[in-house]
Amino acid sequence: MLGLPGPRASGPFRSERSSVKRAAVLFVCLGNICRSPLAEAAFRQEAERRGLDVEIDSAGTGTWHVGHPPDRRAQAVALRQGIDISGYRGRRVTPEDFRRFTHVVALDRDNLADLKRIRPSDGTAELLLLLDVVEGRQGKSVADPYLGDEAGFDVTWADAVAGAKGLADRIARED
Ligand code: 4NP
Repeated sequence: MLGLPGPRASGPFRSERSSVKRAAVLFVCLGNICRSPLAEAAFRQEAERRGLDVEIDSAGTGTWHVGHPPDRRAQAVALRQGIDISGYRGRRVTPEDFRRFTHVVALDRDNLADLKRIRPSDGTAELLLLLDVVEGRQGKSVADPYLGDEAGFDVTWADAVAGAKGLADRIARED
């Protein structure tokens, strides 16, 4: 998703090679209009709250919604939390993202499998599932709410918030 400025704060991320590198997190789902924009929004809020210096974006493995704003139900659930995501725009994940981001975070297991296929051999990003950082939910998928009702988006938001907290803890530890 493009369109919102990231939070600015301090605190470097130390990479495996011990060079200081700013953390950069990319959330990836299928369409980039429901789950990954909500994960992006929840993590922006959490990073800002903690003063974490991190670049944040989201993308989709599919192309149907490139250039589109988030699904209106995703916009509505974010707005209920006081977050306006209407300026986000869908984009497709690229191999370059594995060099640019320190963490590529898949929302579900299908997304993870697709990302493993496009990851270039010189990709440096850590690839994980969002719920891997949530106690008791390791290896689980965030359910796709697209074909369901509005209530499914509340479930997505709850998963996005839990994942955002776990991810912020992890990145703060890696600092
Ligand atoms: P998302 O949900 O991956 O959470 O953004 C979907 C959005 C659109 C489609 C599938 C899933 N679609 O098939 O268009």
